Amino acid sequence: MTAYLITSVSVVGAAPTDLLIRDGVVADVGPGLTAPDATVIDGTGLVALPGLVDLHTHLREPGREDAETVESGSRAAALGGYTAVCAMANTSPVADTAGVVEQVWRLGREANLVDVQPIGAVTVGLAGERLAELGAMADSAARVRIFSDDGHCVADPKLMRRALEYVKAFDGIIAQHAEEPRLTEGAQMHEGEVSTRLGLIGWPAVAEEAIIARDVLLAEHVGSRLHVCHVSTAGSVEVLRQAKARGVRVTAEVTPHHLLLTDVKAETYDPVFKVNPPLRTAADVTALRAALADGVIDVIATDHAPHAVEDKECEWAYARPGMLGLETALSIALDVLGPQWDLIAERMSRTPARIAGLTGHGVDPAPGVPANLTVIDPAARRTIEPAELASRSRNTPYARMTLPGRIVATFLRGEPTVLDGKATK
Ligand code: DOR
Repeated sequence: MTAYLITSVSVVGAAPTDLLIRDGVVADVGPGLTAPDATVIDGTGLVALPGLVDLHTHLREPGREDAETVESGSRAAALGGYTAVCAMANTSPVADTAGVVEQVWRLGREANLVDVQPIGAVTVGLAGERLAELGAMADSAARVRIFSDDGHCVADPKLMRRALEYVKAFDGIIAQHAEEPRLTEGAQMHEGEVSTRLGLIGWPAVAEEAIIARDVLLAEHVGSRLHVCHVSTAGSVEVLRQAKARGVRVTAEVTPHHLLLTDVKAETYDPVFKVNPPLRTAADVTALRAALADGVIDVIATDHAPHAVEDKECEWAYARPGMLGLETALSIALDVLGPQWDLIAERMSRTPARIAGLTGHGVDPAPGVPANLTVIDPAARRTIEPAELASRSRNTPYARMTLPGRIVATFLRGEPTVLDGKATK
């Protein structure tokens, strides 16, 4: 195993120091380190963070390997600075059995670019009618702890209550896609001034807020852990703020795109901007940013949603919702938050690792900890070219935008998955 000595690097924004990686761990951190056998990386101007952890990734395998595979998505993740991703269950077949979650977990191990932690479905086939085999998935080799029907809401309150109760036995989490389906029938974009002008059916903010309000009450009632996926409205933030103040065991994520883009993008009719939940208003973006800063929103999660060309480059109404996220998330965070490295580490690594229970991830580089880390050049700027992305899909909403920050290197248990900004395999 090669050793790596990163010189003069800022660890999570602190004064520059040297960082030695050997035998899978951070062997030493301090000024003036020497290691004759090590490959030296000049870290001047660079920042080392604990490897990023994504709570919300769609890897599409099994079933839509034309859009993404566990391997291609893992490579995109590594290039984005991630060392672990949680793979959503809306594959085909759905990850609602021990067999499917074990398959995804095994494919992740084989690719060995990031740790792939499968999320199990809450209901059989995501149909919202019967609970899936939650216990069998928890007991499987994949050791599933997060369950989600993401893409669909667990709309039936009795089923949601049962799911919350069931996972309590192993301190599991239900990650809810908060969308009251009756309120979003036929919806194409955020319901508001822009949807009225464009004549598109709207997805009202209350469809999200009503489910979050219900679910925090259910979680409170049964004393279970709830996680809210892709929070997108100012009203949702207020519901979460109140629930957290009461001590409800709820955590929440926001996506990079909901922190940056608004529903005005729909005026282009470019389906690359179609996403679920939809892009909201500037006031929502402001509220989400404030909630991320004050901790009402716990994490940035990508909702990386690759789609094949024929599912995306078509008329708006027929296009699938979803955007790529893994290879641009850190740049968007840097754009939105600035060089607040401790906050970025908290929202993109430490907290998501803690929520998912991923030991060895989300730990700041220090002697003896597993070398799961990423090294960023914050001064670099890059123009996003869809054709250059490692994802099999091209549906980035940031095409030809120039964004701050570049991932220089990523290490998974001491092995580089990215060096000089390029994937090592
Ligand atoms: O935009 C989205 N795309 N939202 C979801 O909840 C699901 C996802 C997907 O699977 O494409």
